[in-house]
Amino acid sequence: MAEAGGKIILYGEHFVVHGAPAIAAGISNKSVVKIKKAGENSIVTEQKVVPETSVVSIQNILDSMAIKDKYKVHLEGNLPTYGGLGSSAAFCVALVKAIAEDHDLGLNREQINRHAYEGEKAFHGDPSGIDNTVAAYGGIVEFRKDHGFSFFEPGIPLNFIVSFTGKYSPTAKMVGMVGTLRQQNKDKFGQLMDEYTELSIRAKKALEKGQADVIGVCMNENQVLLSELGVSDETNDEITIIALEHGALGSKLTGGGGGGCCISLADDEKQAKKIAEEISNRGYESFITKIEK
Ligand code: MEV
Repeated sequence: MAEAGGKIILYGEHFVVHGAPAIAAGISNKSVVKIKKAGENSIVTEQKVVPETSVVSIQNILDSMAIKDKYKVHLEGNLPTYGGLGSSAAFCVALVKAIAEDHDLGLNREQINRHAYEGEKAFHGDPSGIDNTVAAYGGIVEFRKDHGFSFFEPGIPLNFIVSFTGKYSPTAKMVGMVGTLRQQNKDKFGQLMDEYTELSIRAKKALEKGQADVIGVCMNENQVLLSELGVSDETNDEITIIALEHGALGSKLTGGGGGGCCISLADDEKQAKKIAEEISNRGYESFITKIEK
């Protein structure tokens, strides 16, 4: 048995695919994987997954690890697979760990991360690598495609509400849409990239200094830019509005968008519970996650 945690992207989904820095944090919800050698690869789970894609991912990982065996893979755990929370990456990281354990390989995190990235390609096509990196290492990470990543600590504990729109996020489709926008409207895309890059510098400083208000304002600005990219749908918009109306410091979609999940920042745990309740009352399943200092 092996496990790996999910993530929330605090800033920079989509922009990260095109080379801007993104900031993500590991959360305690986990994917748990158990494996058994079998005649062919398969996935067994009560979670919502696309079995064909999972099987491609299993094979990608086996190829990357140069292992000839096939496996029946059981997926469990409390990390929802509805998109936005890095469940496919957590699945890949947990699977690499389980296979490595089965073959007594003793892989380090860098190796686990590298093999998991090959598995992620089955789900995303062109993943930036941020999700598998957070699943492999945990913590708060600033990540830049082709430049690497660094960890840092927030100046204050952060109380987030994670809310599910009820719609599974079509991450690969959304990444494709943004790619098309980039090709068809270079000027607009370039301007949004510049605005986001400037925002990401302010956001990181605010996180390090623990300036809750600025962290929230940067989340709201990021949400506006994601709307401009066309990846925030009406359910993402509604959740962010409910959260802000009930006192959240900031609110945005997290992950691929087009549904999936939103995150909202509360002042403290008590307020987070209240906001989560308000959002749940409007029909959007929500839970609280705390990123420790
Ligand atoms: C998905 O969690 C984040 C995206 O930026 C895609 C990626 O980075 O691979 C939308």
